[in-house]
Amino acid sequence: MCGIVGYAGNKEALAVIIDGLKKLEYRGYDSAGVAFQKGNDLVITKAAGSVASLETALGEQNSSINVGIGHTRWATHGRPTDENAHPHSSCCGKIALIHNGIIENYRAIRQRMTSEESHKFISETDTEVLVHLVEENYEGDLLQAVRTALKDVKGSYGLVVISSAEPGRMICARQDSPLIIGLGEGENFIASDIPALLAHTRRTIVLEDGEFASITMDKVEVFDHKGQPVEKEVLEITWDIEAAEKGGYEHFMLKEIMEQPTAVKETMRQRIDVEKGRVDLSELAFTSSQLESLDKVYIVACGTAYHAGLLGKAIIEKLANLPVEVDVASEFRYREPLFKKNQLVIVISQSGETADTLAALRLARQKSLQVLAITNVVGSTVSREADHVLYTWAGPEIAVASTKAYLTQLISIYLVALYFGEVRGAIEKEYLSEIVKGLNRLPSQLKDVLSEESVNRLKAYCEHLAGWESAFFVGRNLDYPVAMEGALKLKEISYIHAEAYPAGELKHGPLALIVEGIPVIALATQKAVLDKTLSNIQEVNARGGAVFAITQEGFEDVSRQVESIFYLPPIEDILAPVLSAVPTQLIAYYAAIARGSSVDKPRNLAKSVTVE
Ligand code: M6R
Repeated sequence: MCGIVGYAGNKEALAVIIDGLKKLEYRGYDSAGVAFQKGNDLVITKAAGSVASLETALGEQNSSINVGIGHTRWATHGRPTDENAHPHSSCCGKIALIHNGIIENYRAIRQRMTSEESHKFISETDTEVLVHLVEENYEGDLLQAVRTALKDVKGSYGLVVISSAEPGRMICARQDSPLIIGLGEGENFIASDIPALLAHTRRTIVLEDGEFASITMDKVEVFDHKGQPVEKEVLEITWDIEAAEKGGYEHFMLKEIMEQPTAVKETMRQRIDVEKGRVDLSELAFTSSQLESLDKVYIVACGTAYHAGLLGKAIIEKLANLPVEVDVASEFRYREPLFKKNQLVIVISQSGETADTLAALRLARQKSLQVLAITNVVGSTVSREADHVLYTWAGPEIAVASTKAYLTQLISIYLVALYFGEVRGAIEKEYLSEIVKGLNRLPSQLKDVLSEESVNRLKAYCEHLAGWESAFFVGRNLDYPVAMEGALKLKEISYIHAEAYPAGELKHGPLALIVEGIPVIALATQKAVLDKTLSNIQEVNARGGAVFAITQEGFEDVSRQVESIFYLPPIEDILAPVLSAVPTQLIAYYAAIARGSSVDKPRNLAKSVTVE
């Protein structure tokens, strides 16, 4: 994930900035760069690869640099190259800018600038339009130029700008992407994350959305969106560096679970239009006739991504009226699928490097099928070899157990299904618009599911669960793949043996394993099959199993039939898997904690599986 560091003070700025960027390396990045003033000019140095490569590119700089900005980039728009690395420069070379976030309307701005021939673009990034906008609006006051420029911008940003016309001053602005000001004696800092500041200061100011700041070595001024000065509270950071890297959470997994509302929002950004009730995935460059003539989709993936694929089958079949087969990638090529023309293969992979998934992709391409990759990593092998790529904007996932990547894979599948459905004329306009509105509500509903009260309820349940060596997850319809994913998560990090079954399948065998008190987590979010799921819950109750139900508010019958219950906000059946996954992730997490397992790095597992 991109990182920002800025410094104004009497120390050697480059050393402070490089050190700060190194403190942000754990977040993942693929290029780095700095900008600083030397004499009357701005110098920008960038390098694809590591901060160490940037240091080599910088060579010996003189030590009299007191103000500068630095950035680590995790590629989103455009590959990880020197040109795409930040800082970006204005045409006049007097303004440099670094940015975290996504500019939604960058294409329109870039088109306007290109047709007017008013600016020359060097990179493929969305960010570059920002520095040109600041340049267009500069009339002697950098703060004013940034404020005016941002009026034309839609999207998320944490950005910092410097100009050789105003030496010693950094201007920053925030919208949906964090920025923290660090306060020192005769020096001040700006960073996207606390670890970059901790070696220098623990006194901080957190910028809120819509706020701007002007920072020099001896003055920090914060303004609201109307330009009015804002009195900010100074917060003392008490975390050590390890806690700071995890955003104050005990583990990366918990941090990543908590980041899901934002990750989901980012993945939908630019792609859903709530007013028009539509999804726009023109970034995929399918022609209408290609989509209209499709008659089958294969989804191929491993592990958690495979579970997203299983949900994908139900979702794409319903919304796009397209038959879907789902395969575990390690099995796909050995079953000799009956490939025909007018078929599409969708591969799903967080890392984009999973060997089995890659082999499936190559097989499909060798058979002349089009491949759409849903992946989280720009520049990954899967993204380079697929015909079409849909990125999940989850940000780097560090914990081995996949959480936010899974949820954003699921979101990507809804987007694909709705987009294909509309182009193929397979979905009613009103229904499409209703689902788009439902998608738009998800980030705030996820926040509810992640409230302190909800988390505590799940934590308490895990005290019971952790004492068992075996557990069941059951569900019908869309609840079944969610049950499979819940069981995988529990096995993976708590080492409790967990089995997932379609609820109706229990009586065909597994019911023999139900003994007094055994934990059975029942997913009961699907209105269409609720009565049937309740009957299956009764079968478990009758054998003494202890059912913990995950259901929706309003499904009151469930509470009368189970030992404990967790309510999700009311939601359409088809979107429920996005919310119901979250309590299963937290159950796995707190069961693992209660059993003292190594949460972020479970035994025998690797984050990216690059062997077959
Ligand atoms: O990077 P990928 O999405 O291709 O990885 C696939 C699986 O290895 C991965 O989802 C694995 O199952 C996770 N550790 C599950 O939490």
